[in-house]
Amino acid sequence: MYLNRKEERILEGEAGEITAKSLKLLVEIGKQKGAEELVSISRSHISGVSYKTAGFPMLYLLEDMAEKGVKVKTKATVNPSGMPRRGWKVIGVPSNFANPQRRIVAAYRKLGCETILSCTPYYFYPPKKGEIIAFAESSAICYVNSVIGAKTNRHGSLDALAASITGKVPKMELLLDKNRKPKVMVKTNFTPDSSAEFSLLGLYVGGKIQKDDNPIFTFPRHPNKGGLKALGSGLATSGAIALFHVLGITPEAKDLEEVDLKHLESFEITEGAIQEFLEAKKSKSKRIIPDLIAIGCPHVSERELEEISRKLRGRNLRGSIKLWIFAPNAIVKRVGREVLKPIEKAGGRIVPDTCPVVAPIDQMGIEKIVVNSAKAFSYIPRLSKGVNVALNSLDEIINRWTKEVT
Ligand code: F3S
Repeated sequence: MYLNRKEERILEGEAGEITAKSLKLLVEIGKQKGAEELVSISRSHISGVSYKTAGFPMLYLLEDMAEKGVKVKTKATVNPSGMPRRGWKVIGVPSNFANPQRRIVAAYRKLGCETILSCTPYYFYPPKKGEIIAFAESSAICYVNSVIGAKTNRHGSLDALAASITGKVPKMELLLDKNRKPKVMVKTNFTPDSSAEFSLLGLYVGGKIQKDDNPIFTFPRHPNKGGLKALGSGLATSGAIALFHVLGITPEAKDLEEVDLKHLESFEITEGAIQEFLEAKKSKSKRIIPDLIAIGCPHVSERELEEISRKLRGRNLRGSIKLWIFAPNAIVKRVGREVLKPIEKAGGRIVPDTCPVVAPIDQMGIEKIVVNSAKAFSYIPRLSKGVNVALNSLDEIINRWTKEVT
């Protein structure tokens, strides 16, 4: 791989041991994958924040780096943690989780990261079309590539951190235009009408194609951005898909027409197939009365928060069911009290900074959860043993688990 003189000097240690090691990691990844050179990034997004998944090894690594004075070179944002910064005790997070969790977030801050603690950084720092960035967090990767048209490969927590420290990534895979073209066409005879259904469609399709197939979808109606976010998060969950297109809609498929793509392998998906897929999943999760309803995987947008608020106006949660809405702090601050009030009045709670999948749910007395996200539906049982999860749309959740105030 070609390295310029400056990059060679960094490898030799000119910018310190950690920066040299970080660049070495990226060079090795690049060599393995056939990259010919490194390229600069304008920003990054780092995962590996929750103590539940990162654990003590990551905590020690981050604290060691921070102690040595390492700083990120680019604007770097970070994923949600396993609890909110404030109010974690009230929702039942145990101190033996909270203490190391706070140290992880503090270490990222010392490294110079912006600790937004959200998996939807594009809502407040949207990258531009064509911008080269380094994102970890599969749902965010899929969104920025597909819906915004920025360019990132699928990074893990360590190489995203290395990219943030060096400001470089290997030029390969989805950074090259030739690898961003659609390879499989997915024709649907319906347009999902909820995020839950979009994410389920993504989960279904992701399980049927290869990770670099860059599927291109056709829908009878234009999906909104919330639907595209959910579709991408489902695709990334089951198929590690990092880029999809929607014919005539997403930035890199706006000017394409079906006739341009007739050479592609294509398959059709009916609403019936998705319903069957859902029914099979439902029968596994049984019909449960939830302890908790978790909305916001990925974190909700301003528009989604307003929609939830509108739908909850004049309603109350049934029994002792909890409703937690996982939202970026910046969005919560932006919407104002008139949006938050109906949610709180109904008995719901906004939980910022937090990912429901990597929260210590199993230590918080929660055994049954209803979600509206195929990603949360797939991952919560894997990461929180013994927790039973069901998938419903937002409307189903509101109809079933809330009642009108009389
Ligand atoms: Fe975000 Fe956690 Fe879901 S990081 S996409 S809320 S699994």
